[in-house]
Amino acid sequence: MASFDAIIIGGGPGGYVCAIRCAQLGLKVAVVEGRDTLGGTCLNVGCIPSKALLNATHHLHEVHENFEKMGLMGGAPTVDWAKMLGYKDDVIGQNTKGIEFLFKKNKVTWIKGWASIPAPGQVKVGDDIHEAKNIVIATGSESSPLNGVTIDEKTVVTSTGALTLAKIPAKLAVIGAGVIGLEMGSVYARLGAEVTVIEYLDAITPGMDAEVAKSFQRILQKQGLKFILGAAVQGVDTNKTGATVRYKLKKTDAEATLDADTVLVATGRRPYTAGLGLEALGVEMLPRGQVKTDSHYATNIPGLYAIGDAIVGPMLAHKAEDEGMALAEILAGKSGHVNYGVIPGVIYTTPEVASVGQTEEQLKEAGRPYKVGKFSFMGNGRAKAVFQGEGFVKILADKDTDRILGAHIIGPAAGDLIHEICVAMEFGASAQDLALTCHAHPTFSEAVREAALACGDGAIHA
Ligand code: NAI
Repeated sequence: MASFDAIIIGGGPGGYVCAIRCAQLGLKVAVVEGRDTLGGTCLNVGCIPSKALLNATHHLHEVHENFEKMGLMGGAPTVDWAKMLGYKDDVIGQNTKGIEFLFKKNKVTWIKGWASIPAPGQVKVGDDIHEAKNIVIATGSESSPLNGVTIDEKTVVTSTGALTLAKIPAKLAVIGAGVIGLEMGSVYARLGAEVTVIEYLDAITPGMDAEVAKSFQRILQKQGLKFILGAAVQGVDTNKTGATVRYKLKKTDAEATLDADTVLVATGRRPYTAGLGLEALGVEMLPRGQVKTDSHYATNIPGLYAIGDAIVGPMLAHKAEDEGMALAEILAGKSGHVNYGVIPGVIYTTPEVASVGQTEEQLKEAGRPYKVGKFSFMGNGRAKAVFQGEGFVKILADKDTDRILGAHIIGPAAGDLIHEICVAMEFGASAQDLALTCHAHPTFSEAVREAALACGDGAIHA
């Protein structure tokens, strides 16, 4: 039996970051992880592998769409699917081993196995019971099941199975026009699959600024993705060659079907806390399955904390990481804090989509007076040079004080550009502060400055 200052259950972005920070702050810390590799969903079957496939297929798309325009002639490369998956696995390996290295460097103990909490202050892994002053639940999330749909991870897959399909499907049906559906839908559309996305709501990417969502849908359609909106999926029937998705159009109640070789179910995720023994321990839970915590990530059981996808808030790796760091600071007797008003969200399609802060719809609903500064990438020289003039930067600022309240970008490198606005928001900056900041030319980031200028006397290149 070993004893620690903190035992963290789960080696994903929330857990491993929390552990490294605890160690840096002088705590004796261990992470319990049952997978063969560290990094959780994000590194093993989520963010990182999907980015590898998005990268490979983006280049293929460039070959087909833009190479000839630049005088790069010759046949398009053929796709060696097994090799592409091998590249993806290699990227996963490099990243997960990187975390293992960081654990050794920071003297974080990795307890291999699946944990349960038999009593406060105790973590059981296999037959061993370890003692800890603090226990952190960082067990993440799993795909939510959908009524009438049985996942086999071969024909009917979640995001996990979608990363290891035996072959590229000719027809892919995607249920859910959220982040996973659109990222993986893009991957397979670029690989030649006919991709149809069935979405319950009347718009894609719920919660996103409506103007951006509309523009995003139009661009994806141009790339070949088809959308059936306002459609509730009733079930999926598999057969020898593939599957049939049954859905009902909400407006007319009409029932229809869609045949596909593969069906990706991407209708959201739910907290994963099975097997921890939380019920027996009397841990208070929220109705949607999250562990209930206070603003310091403490549960109702003394010494038991929770962070990341297992608690409320957006299910994002970086939100979990920030909570992990904040909690480590708290456990070390310092003050830890996460600014939930400034958590960016990014979709890694081409173009990328990124947002932070309030949407225009949220501001309207709150009755907050605001102004909009918008700038199209068509007016950005660098974007035109790389055939990415579609899309725009939209900055929302307080009508009276000019303080930035939110920003929404669809365009090249949006996922990186958003961060200058995050920093500005952290510092309570006005749109004018951004507009007065010199931006190198020619960069995509000039479009951010131009949108900030558009909140005042006007953009230059509009
Ligand atoms: P999501 O919540 O983003 O989207 C799910 C979609 O499915 C919604 O649009 C919903 O209306 C629709 N839906 C639900 N039930 C349906 C039904 N019966 N028929 C048709 N449509 C239905 O969930 P998603 O894409 O599965 O992602 C899960 C989580 O993982 C999210 O919290 C997301 O933020 C996170 N994630 C983040 C990524 C990123 O930051 N780039 C990448 C991948 C996932």
